[in-house]
Amino acid sequence: MTVKGREKGGAVPQGVVGRLPIYFRYLSELEHQGIERISSAQLGKALDFTAAQIRSDLSYFGSFGQQGYGYNVQDLLKQVRLILGLNKNYSMILIGAGNLGKAIACYSGFKMQGFEINAIFDIDPHLVGNFLEGTTIQHVDKLEDYLKENHVDVAILATPKNASQSMADLLGKSDVESIWNFSPAHLTVPDNVIVENIHLTDSLYGLVFRLNENREIRKQG
Ligand code: NAI
Repeated sequence: MTVKGREKGGAVPQGVVGRLPIYFRYLSELEHQGIERISSAQLGKALDFTAAQIRSDLSYFGSFGQQGYGYNVQDLLKQVRLILGLNKNYSMILIGAGNLGKAIACYSGFKMQGFEINAIFDIDPHLVGNFLEGTTIQHVDKLEDYLKENHVDVAILATPKNASQSMADLLGKSDVESIWNFSPAHLTVPDNVIVENIHLTDSLYGLVFRLNENREIRKQG
């Protein structure tokens, strides 16, 4: 998946898109600490990227910072926020209010960044009618009508694997533009629907790979 570049022509590589949230998080932290300025070398060192990488990533969107001064943290944070589109609010729905769905709905950080879960759906009669973070869990039978009547930017899919494609089919027929898919299902969707698959296990596998690598190095040293 690519997004359209603003300064350089063409599309922004996925690697750049993947690093922008990392820059955003770190700059937010710096701003919180009252740090006013940072060089690309310092930024690179803190985040394990090269200074050249950071300058190249940002150059897709314009020229930021000054030679010999570096970046003004507040200005750069503001720009990265705009680039990521975090200056807007996003309407979301959650499908699947089980263990994971509940954890997602209960995380207050999303709302603080403008991501609002406006409706929650599940198939379990024991859950339907209950409140989750102030939102009533509706039966999934009501999803089609909800999608006709409401605009949804992001649908969060936290259903079991075997239920996910039928949910994606329903979403694909509506004007939902993106799916944040936590289920392990590989979804088939129309071209206009963006899917972001989340697998916590990928991160865990990466961690244990490095863990074993470290142990091996220690053994040899
Ligand atoms: P869970 O069983 O606690 O919750 C699933 C919920 O989906 C239940 O409340 C169930 O009633 C509901 N559901 C089932 N069919 C439905 C349908 N057709 N429409 C609406 N709701 C429906 O499972 P858990 O642990 O919350 O996991 C949810 C999904 O997330 C699973 O696919 C699981 O494999 C995946 N998962 C992914 C992780 C990741 O890293 N991406 C981590 C943990 C879970």
